[in-house]
Amino acid sequence: MKILVINGPNINMLGVREPDIYGKNSFSDLLSLLRKIAEDENITVDQFQSNHEGALVDAIQGALGTYDGIVINPAAYTHTSIAILDALKAVGIPTVEVHISDVDNREDFRQISYAGMACIKTIKGQGLDGYRQAIRFLIDTI
Ligand code: DQA
Repeated sequence: MKILVINGPNINMLGVREPDIYGKNSFSDLLSLLRKIAEDENITVDQFQSNHEGALVDAIQGALGTYDGIVINPAAYTHTSIAILDALKAVGIPTVEVHISDVDNREDFRQISYAGMACIKTIKGQGLDGYRQAIRFLIDTI
């Protein structure tokens, strides 16, 4: 099984960025965690992070024919990007949405998720462990 983990803008700033909300673990800790999950589950987990909406769309399109599942944290583009929603719908790859923070209990503008409309599950407020839960869900489901 091959899973692509896609992270949107500012996720590369983990650890530095609002640690009260996103935790103290760094982006490099997240990458180590993904490597560990791949090893534990005996699957391939690749990752892509970009601060650019079009690059995220390109990564989703590029997953077609190569990846069995996608885990995506579109970050701020969650709440604005119809392009990411359309790309996920276009490829039709089973996708789980992850949010490190508990977006349900944050600002009103975070209450809509366009990407989530194309996802089979959303995991929120579980910190970095949300990525593990998302991958596990894909393994159990697809
Ligand atoms: C986030 C939540 C978004 O609202 C925010 O813009 C992010 C990160 C999260 O992982 O909790 O950048 O997706």
